[in-house]
Amino acid sequence: MKRRHTHASKDFNPETLALGYGYEPTLSEGAVKPPVFLTSTFQFQSAEEGKAFFQLAYGLREPNEGEQSGLIYSRLNNPNLQIFEERLAAWDLNEVGATFASGMAAISSTAFGLLRPGEVVIATSPIYGGSHYLLEKILPRFGIECRFVDAGDDAAARIAEAAEALGPERVRLVFIETPANPSNMLTDIRAVADVCEALTAAHDRKVYLAVDNTFLGPIFQRPALFGADLVIYSATKFIGGHSDVVAGVVTGSKAAMMPIMEARTILGTMANPFAGWLLLRSLETVSVRMRRQAKTAKALAKMLQEHPKVTRVNYPTLLPEGCPQRALYERQCTGPGSLISFEVEGGEAAAFKVLNSFQICRLAVSLGGTESLVEHPMRMTHADIEPEILITRGVTPGLIRMSVGLEHLSDLKQDLKHALKQIS
Ligand SMILES: Cc1ncc(COP(=O)(O)O)c(C=O)c1O
Repeated sequence: MKRRHTHASKDFNPETLALGYGYEPTLSEGAVKPPVFLTSTFQFQSAEEGKAFFQLAYGLREPNEGEQSGLIYSRLNNPNLQIFEERLAAWDLNEVGATFASGMAAISSTAFGLLRPGEVVIATSPIYGGSHYLLEKILPRFGIECRFVDAGDDAAARIAEAAEALGPERVRLVFIETPANPSNMLTDIRAVADVCEALTAAHDRKVYLAVDNTFLGPIFQRPALFGADLVIYSATKFIGGHSDVVAGVVTGSKAAMMPIMEARTILGTMANPFAGWLLLRSLETVSVRMRRQAKTAKALAKMLQEHPKVTRVNYPTLLPEGCPQRALYERQCTGPGSLISFEVEGGEAAAFKVLNSFQICRLAVSLGGTESLVEHPMRMTHADIEPEILITRGVTPGLIRMSVGLEHLSDLKQDLKHALKQIS
């Protein structure tokens, strides 16, 4: 079967596209919302059609003018995933998207799709612990070398230096996470893209820039505007938004996405149709949720900054005017998001005391859901990275990460005050 669209044009704003683009109700008994297409396989109208769909899906020939591959098998494509992918790609200003079983499935399929033995990945640090583990421990087993450089100001220069040291002709992928989890350190996407473009031109082989946009995207940061080739998400977070689905997404140009789609098809790392349906539901409200969560987070960050037991608060709107991180925030982001990390006096023992005392915020990893969550990065999300390395990147024993949800601001203020009182 071929899918048909209601809004033939992508000219509407992403908020509007998130409600209707890519779905034709008359093909589904008039249902205004897409049903869950809980089917593993799709019926071809003829053997010739099946042949044509496979030729396009497997890249065996170029499509004729206006020709598109149809639905084949839910490991390759499924309407719930495709509608979601088209809507999110529009938000990211990218041509295509691919949905995965998790954020880690998205990142590892990107790595396995793009990298070959002998090649090099350069990544900023800190990044999410699972991504760090993949790059540091898993990829070297396949002959792929990884080098970490500090995120933040001048990260692009450090990436260029690392490339020179490792052999610039071996670099295939630069992976950055901005803002970084959990330090909120920002890396200049445009400056890193310039390094990738220079390496590509000098050695006549593509160096991809992939940006993990989980913390701010798709609302407050659009990496494609600054030259990123690939935009990656843990859709488990803000895009799913309700802490009830695990999923990941990559968006990019057709050419950049081709090897990643191939990896998804053959490794079988796609999301299932119900996850796609949940993501479609959630994408409708992502703009409203993220804006409201950021507004609350901004007020809480300010309150935390003034608390006598809080020694440091990492949050974009608290960056001093005139510092390079502040200037970058203003260039690259259109809002601060709702992830705050803050350090309490008294190290791990004090941080644990605070974490054990919240009454509204749940003590749980993950982020971006409607409910506020708190966790201890060093001993939880980033526990697979050595503490000595974490400390050099600002992830100290007293650091707590908070994901601000949709609860009432005054209740969250009370909750934070109450928890911090335990160490006062
Ligand atoms: C920034 C970031 N990227 C990727 C991931 C991995 O996503 P998932 O848990 O959906 O596999 C996470 C998970 O916490 C994350 O915070």
